[in-house]
Amino acid sequence: MPAILDISGLTKVFPARHGRAPVHALKHINLMLDEGDFIAVMGPSGCGKSTLLNIVAGFDRQDDGTCLVRDRPVSGPGPDRGMVFQEYALFPWMTVERNMIFAMRAAGKYNAEAPARIQATLERMGLWQFRQSYPKHLSGGMRQRLAIARILAIDSPMMLMDEPFGALDALTRAVLQANLVELWQETRKTVLFITHSVDEALFLAERVIVMTPRPGTIVLDRRIDLKRPRDVTTPEFNDLKREILTMISPSLHVPGLHADESVI
Ligand SMILES: Nc1ncnc2c1ncn2[C@@H]1O[C@H](COP(=O)(O)OP(=O)(O)O)[C@@H](O)[C@H]1O
Ligand SMILES: [Mg+2]
Repeated sequence: MPAILDISGLTKVFPARHGRAPVHALKHINLMLDEGDFIAVMGPSGCGKSTLLNIVAGFDRQDDGTCLVRDRPVSGPGPDRGMVFQEYALFPWMTVERNMIFAMRAAGKYNAEAPARIQATLERMGLWQFRQSYPKHLSGGMRQRLAIARILAIDSPMMLMDEPFGALDALTRAVLQANLVELWQETRKTVLFITHSVDEALFLAERVIVMTPRPGTIVLDRRIDLKRPRDVTTPEFNDLKREILTMISPSLHVPGLHADESVI
């Protein structure tokens, strides 16, 4: 299987500003993703997770090392990489349908089949009856479904998701997680998903990456072999959860299964 993403020796230092010292955000990150892989990236706040994602997305540039998508260096954003942020990056003055049209035009994919594709995608995401609504009239979960729908319509092979469900209530979050797994199984897109929740990472991903505090380096790259649909109550799930929590906060004693994840 060819690598869709090949990151090697990636280093990022934000220059000194306003009398503050330079911020060494990423140091020698090596990461390889095969087509169709689903990885979750975890690590303490400020360890460089968003910086890493932004470099892959082409919003930011590394100072050293390489970032190749399908063997080509990333030189800017492109329709081959769709982004979903925690804060919904939708256009508030456009309806659901106009947001979809705009995204397809921007990606150069608006053709004769586009209206049918938009309809099918909105139906798939349960948003077709809301096509004339504005984002402010949608729930948080619906907005994130719209952000995902845009990527599906453009058919980006790679989805970059930066804590996309972090602002949602627990029930909506669980539904969106299950939807995302279904979608991934159906489309086999490559997903790079940042999360603060070990449960979320273990429910979703085929691989979990753990980063150190700044400068971010990778300390764990763990394949998750739990069978799907995943059961968060099994001993195997909790063994993995303990292992990963210990890697994230080595100083944190993880006695039981209800360790407070808010420390990370
Ligand atoms: N544009 C920027 N200029 C200066 N420092 C930045 C910039 N973006 C991020 N940083 C700093 O780089 C470090 C990593 O940030 P970030 O990648 O957002 O971490 P994470 O997503 O893991 O919480 C933090 O210390 C943050 O303050
Ligand atoms: Mg972040």
